[in-house]
Parts: sequence; structure tokens; C-alpha cells
Amino acid sequence: MSKSKNTILTEDSSLAAKVLKEGGIVLFPTETVYGIGADSRNLSACLEIYKIKNRPADNPLIVHLGNPGMIQLIGEVSDSVRSLIYKYMPGPLSLVLKKIDESVFSTGLPTVAVRVPSHPKVLEMLSFFGGPVSAPSANLSGQPSITRLEDAISEFDGLVDLILKGPEPEIGLESTVMDFSVDPPKLLRPGYWGFEELKRFVPNLIGVSSLKDGETPASPGMKYRHYAPTAKVFLTETRSPESETAAIGINIPSGWKFSLSVKDNSEYMKHLYSFFRDCDRLGIKEIYCFPPANESGEEAILNRILKAQER
Ligand code: TXA
Ligand code: MG
Repeated sequence: MSKSKNTILTEDSSLAAKVLKEGGIVLFPTETVYGIGADSRNLSACLEIYKIKNRPADNPLIVHLGNPGMIQLIGEVSDSVRSLIYKYMPGPLSLVLKKIDESVFSTGLPTVAVRVPSHPKVLEMLSFFGGPVSAPSANLSGQPSITRLEDAISEFDGLVDLILKGPEPEIGLESTVMDFSVDPPKLLRPGYWGFEELKRFVPNLIGVSSLKDGETPASPGMKYRHYAPTAKVFLTETRSPESETAAIGINIPSGWKFSLSVKDNSEYMKHLYSFFRDCDRLGIKEIYCFPPANESGEEAILNRILKAQER
């Protein structure tokens, strides 16, 4: 798409809400990654997001809401879902529910994914707006999600109507997605909350299925290549530093052309995507990712590295 829009860059969340009401496209930070959103009840605005991102038409968007009480107006909330909402929201969790509000965009599916972000700026915008905002991660389809304002501007200036400025995402990987439209419930995408943590609260939860050939994906987004930089990504435990390649990991040695040594899984999550983007900018051809620590966050980091490895 040509970058022909006159994009507003602002911290004014009421202006962002006004642009949404007028059918515009707004890019905003959340606690996970940046999102690119439109009024969920404005079909042409929602479809414009697909054009901008070059996103496959059958991959639905997450509906963002300003407070947990609104979820029951959009999707079917059972008692177990209600206690989950109470415990985890606002926060980095998306729930797929049976859809009850037909006016909300969801690519024609009978289900809808809902999420109440905890980021202060987006919460302000959602509360000024007052309704549901459909938003995927702000990145061109297949590329790593965006976690820094500079990347949001370089990729989307001229393509969206407004970029909302606020604190940068704290977490760095997309929200956990759980499907409660099926019984037993299924974890579709690990995030800040992984299977082990959630299983304690949802004992009958089923883990992420590895998608075999011919199998129908539970979540449309799972069948697409994701999160990948242009460079080739490898998961390694043993690679030694080289002068032409890049590496990221916990307490890794120096000696690479470009590397990032993080202290724990939360730093790993927070910087993985921006590291991928920096490697592409430097023209690096190969990226070696060392395994995350065996603690909270491990599953999400491995999931994103493995997805980035697929070609
Ligand atoms: O952290 C996040 O979730 C970010 C921020 C912006 O909120 N958003 C995000 O959106 O990561 P996206 O579109 O990149 O990922 C949403 C995932 C996709 O894999 C999509 O297929 C799945 O959620 N999804 C959305 N609606 C669904 C539905 N009704 N049924 C199954 N999966 C659904
Ligand atoms: Mg995405």
C-alpha cells in the first residue's frame, strides 16, 4: 500500500478515540506488543487493517475492551470463564468465546477473541471510545510484532490515521490465547501466561497442538508463518560465537557480529522481536537463539523462536 496518509503522532488518547469513531485506523502500544485497531462495528475500517497488514482474510482479529465487565456483552461467559476474567484481566490474556454480539467483526466465525489490555494509554483510549476495538498486532503480516515506537513509525507512518504514543510494551510477546468456545478449553498461543501456570487454574486445559499436515488449525492464525525476520533463525545450545552471525540468549558470550545477552526470561521476551528487527536492519543472514531458562516464559519464547524458524 502507498504511504499516503497524513498520520497524526500524539499522546492524546481522546483524539485517538475520536479517530476510531470516525472510522479511522489507530496504532497503539499495549503491555504485550503494539496493535493496529479499528472500530469492531465498522466493517470497512476492520477490512482496511487487512489491506494495510496484507493479512490473510480468514485470520480473525482480537476484540479489545476497556473493562472486563464488557466481555459478557460480546461473548458467552460461563462461570469458569468469569473467574478467569476476574483473576487475569486486565492483562496479557485473550479468550475465544462463543460470540453473542453479531455486530462485532470476526471474519464470519461464530466465535470471538476478547482481551482487556492493562496498558494505561490503551485503556484510556478504550474508555474514551466506549466500544470494542478490533486489533491484530501491528506488523506487516508474517513479520515480527512491534515493541518500539521507532519501529511503529518506520513501518506505519503514512499507512494509519494516528499513532498513539505511550509507555513501551513491558512484556514484548503477544497475549496468551485460550479457547473457551470448546470443551475442554484449549491453549491456542502461549504468552506471558503459559500452560503450567494456567493449568493450575483451569485443570482441564489442553495444551498447544502441534499442527500436522492436513489438520484444521484451532486458531486460524496458527497456520501462517509468523514472527519471522528476513534472517534465518536457528535454535541452538552449542553454537560458538562467529564474526558474521548474530545471537541472543541468557548470559551468552560476546564475539558475534551482533548479539544480545539478557539476564532472564522476561528480558528475553521483551527484546526478542526488537532484536530480530535490528538484525534485519544490519543485514544479518543468520540468527542463533539460545534456549530460555526453564522457568515462567520459557514456553512462549520457544514458541516464537520455533515459529520464526519455519519457512
Ligand atoms: O497481545 C496481543 O494479543 C496483541 C495485542 C495488539 O493485543 N494482538 C495480537 O493479535 O497478537 P494477532 O492478530 O496478531 O493474534 C491474534 C491471534 C491469531 O492467532 C488469531 O488467529 C487468534 O488470535 N484469534 C483471533 N480470533 C480468534 C477466534 N475467534 N478463534 C480462534 N482464534 C482467534
Ligand atoms: Mg500477530
